[in-house]
Amino acid sequence: MNSAFPKAAAAILEVVDLSLDYKLANISLPALRDISFQIHAGEAVALVGESGSGKTTTAMTVAGLLSPNAKVTSGEVRYRGKRLPISDEEAMRPHRWNDLSVVFQGAMNALNPVQRVIKQIAEPCSLKLGMTRDEAMRRARELLELVGISAERGAAYPHELSGGMRQRVMIAMALACHPSIVIGDEPTTALDVITQAQILKLVTRLRKELNLALILITHDLSVVAESCDRVMIMYAGRIIEDGDVAEIFENPRHPYTRLLIESIPDPTEGKRVLKPIPGDPPSLRNRPSGCAFRTRCPSAMDICAVEVPFLEIEQSGRVACHLYSAGSQEPKVKSNV
Ligand SMILES: Nc1ncnc2c1ncn2[C@@H]1O[C@H](COP(=O)(O)OP(=O)(O)OP(=O)(O)O)[C@@H](O)[C@H]1O
Ligand code: SF4
Ligand SMILES: [Mg+2]
Repeated sequence: MNSAFPKAAAAILEVVDLSLDYKLANISLPALRDISFQIHAGEAVALVGESGSGKTTTAMTVAGLLSPNAKVTSGEVRYRGKRLPISDEEAMRPHRWNDLSVVFQGAMNALNPVQRVIKQIAEPCSLKLGMTRDEAMRRARELLELVGISAERGAAYPHELSGGMRQRVMIAMALACHPSIVIGDEPTTALDVITQAQILKLVTRLRKELNLALILITHDLSVVAESCDRVMIMYAGRIIEDGDVAEIFENPRHPYTRLLIESIPDPTEGKRVLKPIPGDPPSLRNRPSGCAFRTRCPSAMDICAVEVPFLEIEQSGRVACHLYSAGSQEPKVKSNV
């Protein structure tokens, strides 16, 4: 059964029809529209899209870490069937770390530069789990070993560690309170390719060992194939395609997904010519009517300018494009371009 569909087991996280605006100078700008998805225990889902598509906003909303100028205009987020108070940072506090935690991109910015890393890992253990100082330090040592850092290295300050080691520390901190869901927001983007591969391998191992649900945010589709079961593609604040990773790579249906896949460099040179996607993603102030991708889409039709294509379930996933009808993988109208 495809993982884009509801499974027999209850979802651990459900995002239902979520829309969010950012307010700037009294203008409401549409950052997220009709975001809906489910994630199950142990499942790894990638959230992919170009810069500004709304990936971080989605993650921050799920974690209840909204900017002061953000307003959820509709929808909700449920954890194990219960509605999360995502618009109330204080009320979300008991859920962050314990139920879900976030690993951000820049470990150097997220870590305290004047505190030894082992203490930073121990802190959530005492604050959130009520451990004594000794218990928290023991747990921090265990966590360091879990992410492949010797407990002695925990005495280092962040600047004494490499970028990859600092990101391992961030992962250890995220796991400190036994969350069921970890959101990684571009956790490897700032790292070199080899360290990036090592961190992704570590994340995959931990996810399997701890049966974690993982949301891996990236703008780079090539990191998805080995780390995730499912991929959701975002464009201009909407999910526009969702399905199993292998199926989407094999048979991308949305024109944007197709172009994204074609834009991945192929290591076996000569097989696929690198094709950048023409044009730029629209800004929040300037979203085209109808399908936001229409100004860049090689298959755009008249209807695309007037009607928003909604994400519809079909046999092998979900897709939001007027080329498809619900329940069919065949284009419902021929492209006129
Ligand atoms: N606090 C804010 N106020 C106004 N606009 C914002 C705010 N935060 C983000 N945005 C805008 O919302 C849109 C979505 O931003 P978001 O950070 O979610 O994108 P992203 O997909 O994570 O991009 P990137 O790949 O660059 O990290 C962007 O146009 C961004 O400029
Ligand atoms: S709805 Fe229209 S413009 Fe949008 S991706 Fe499909 S064909 Fe292209
Ligand atoms: Mg982002």
